[in-house]
Amino acid sequence: MPFNRRSLAALIAPTLLAGCAAPQAALAPAAPLAAAEGYNAEESAIISAWRTRAAAKADPVIEARIRTILSGMTLEQKIGQMTQPSILSATPDDVRRYYIGSVLNGGGAWPGMNKHASVTDWAKLADDYAKAALATDMQQPVPLIWGIDAVHGNNNVHGTTIFPHNIGLGAAHDPGLIERIGRATARQVRATGINWAFAPTLAVVQNQRWGRSYESYSSDPAEVARDGEALVRGLQGSLTGDGDVIASAKHFVGDGGTWRGVDQGENRSSAETLATLHGVGYYTTLDAGVQTVMVSYNSWARDGASPQGKMHGNRALVTGVLKQRLNFDGLVVSDWNAIEQVAGCERDHCPAAINAGVDLFMVPDDWKSFITRTVADVREGRVPMARIDDAVSRILRVKLRMGLFARPTAAGRFTGDAAALTDRALAQEAVRKSAVLLKNDAGALPLSPGKRLLVVGASAANFANQTGGWSVTWQGEDVNNADFSTGETLLDGLRRVYGADKVTFSPDGSLAASGKFDAVIAVLGERPYAEMKGDVRWPAPLAHAALYPDQAALLQRMAGQGVPVVTVLYSGRTTYATDLINASQAFVAASLPGSEAGTLADLFAGRQSLDFSGHLSFAWPNTPCPSGGYPAGEQLFPRLYGLSYAHAHATGRLVEAAAVNTCP
Ligand code: BGC
Ligand code: BGC
Repeated sequence: MPFNRRSLAALIAPTLLAGCAAPQAALAPAAPLAAAEGYNAEESAIISAWRTRAAAKADPVIEARIRTILSGMTLEQKIGQMTQPSILSATPDDVRRYYIGSVLNGGGAWPGMNKHASVTDWAKLADDYAKAALATDMQQPVPLIWGIDAVHGNNNVHGTTIFPHNIGLGAAHDPGLIERIGRATARQVRATGINWAFAPTLAVVQNQRWGRSYESYSSDPAEVARDGEALVRGLQGSLTGDGDVIASAKHFVGDGGTWRGVDQGENRSSAETLATLHGVGYYTTLDAGVQTVMVSYNSWARDGASPQGKMHGNRALVTGVLKQRLNFDGLVVSDWNAIEQVAGCERDHCPAAINAGVDLFMVPDDWKSFITRTVADVREGRVPMARIDDAVSRILRVKLRMGLFARPTAAGRFTGDAAALTDRALAQEAVRKSAVLLKNDAGALPLSPGKRLLVVGASAANFANQTGGWSVTWQGEDVNNADFSTGETLLDGLRRVYGADKVTFSPDGSLAASGKFDAVIAVLGERPYAEMKGDVRWPAPLAHAALYPDQAALLQRMAGQGVPVVTVLYSGRTTYATDLINASQAFVAASLPGSEAGTLADLFAGRQSLDFSGHLSFAWPNTPCPSGGYPAGEQLFPRLYGLSYAHAHATGRLVEAAAVNTCP
């Protein structure tokens, strides 16, 4: 039966659609900025594309405190505050000697480079850094902030519950759930003595070739705005509480709109699209009080024609838009070694980025020469002292606002508490709500307990594949099941729900021959990836079968066994899979569910009237060569599509694309 688009419209939840209108109306540009503010005509036009946002009321006590502290600081101390090395290259004593304002650990950096470092190891290291910052010879020592990529739970830390990646959370359409995940993540982070999470990502991804697609909540700016805001509320709480951390809205701006989805590539949109599509999440997260914004690696060519360079050097956007038009009064942090990509800059030296408005510099390794060279820039007039004072004021403002001077060490209610790392029930709820049922023909699901299941596909028993990138390590590579001490694979979950004696695991399907099964559960999955390595670059086809031919072959073998095949796909993106869907009676897009994938088995069994409620956060392509932007003609399933047991629909055979090895 040919695919019938109209019949599918009924399956898109109307309530979701109603809530998702793009907020264009609210973004009507105000009057152009006066040239007196130091912007040329093009820059003024760029800035004017953004709606103005009212300034938050300044706290006179905090502002007075900032002035006092600042007036007692030397230039070296100021630049030290603006510097953020990695814990792998700066010791606590370096923090003391160089007046370092912040440290970070990158993905896959742990205390003592021990993958299984305990929560007390983390807390001890955090306390060492915190105390070092208090031991400087500054007139007023300034406490330290430590940033970590807690992007789906405190995912670098052994023993942590890892939540679904944002692509899945977006499919849940439940900001309240995301806020609770934010609360849980903040506790997980405070358990390690750390006080800053580099999240949420506000990318509004337009091309699933991008290897960071899964870090995005949706292709719809309104959804990104809502979900990002919810995460900020959850992470930051009241800012000063024991279970609160500061958040980072990232990556400003246009990261999700690079040409052909190339990581760190060139966004070619208009000034209006930048503001009203890619920029929407900044309004809501700033309203929610987000204290830090991370600048993006991408560059921008306005209308594809007028090159504006790398974001880190873009004064009109970082200062003109973010700090002036949007009245952001927190701190702007650069991304990992990103300054070296600004024209005329190096890894340890970038006056252009300081002058553009970056306040805190993520210079993981080359921080010492960054300090020396930046001090020279100020002394020799390449960077005005007023700019430095603005940067340091913002860093101090954030630290004062979060109550850091009153609780400057790592001590706290959750610090060192391993129990604070796990939130299994919450993660299970998130997994169930984010799974999208794309096909369920002939009532293949639910599968009642008592059925004998053949489980095939290595991803059924592989934590790395279900958690994806930014899990234990940066890329999610070099990770095995022993690196996860909490959670459940889908195989675990099926054994729990159906009974170990009813579940046979045969990764390559070879046991199918015995023929003693009522259904096959095929668990297909991408291998983990993250930024830089995760792109599927044009002209390679964006098709699961092309990327993982052995999995496609396995599924085709299972399709011939005469029993229903239920396929689960773990993926960080929506990807061409019509051939795989046709080979399955039921097909579940589970995105990257995290450490609690096993609860999918509860859904499959329809226990306690559990049902699917997830709806795609991105359109699903009907072509291995999607052109970006999700045009209607390239959609197999539109955004917000999703079936449930309650709302059944016969999908039938879908039209497959001709096999392609390379896109035209
Ligand atoms: C990523 C950021 C991340 C930072 C620190 C960068 O490469 O783009 O999202 O927060 O590294 O690990
Ligand atoms: C770090 C990441 C960082 C990346 C950027 C890695 O070595 O672990 O956190 O985002 O480098 O290149």
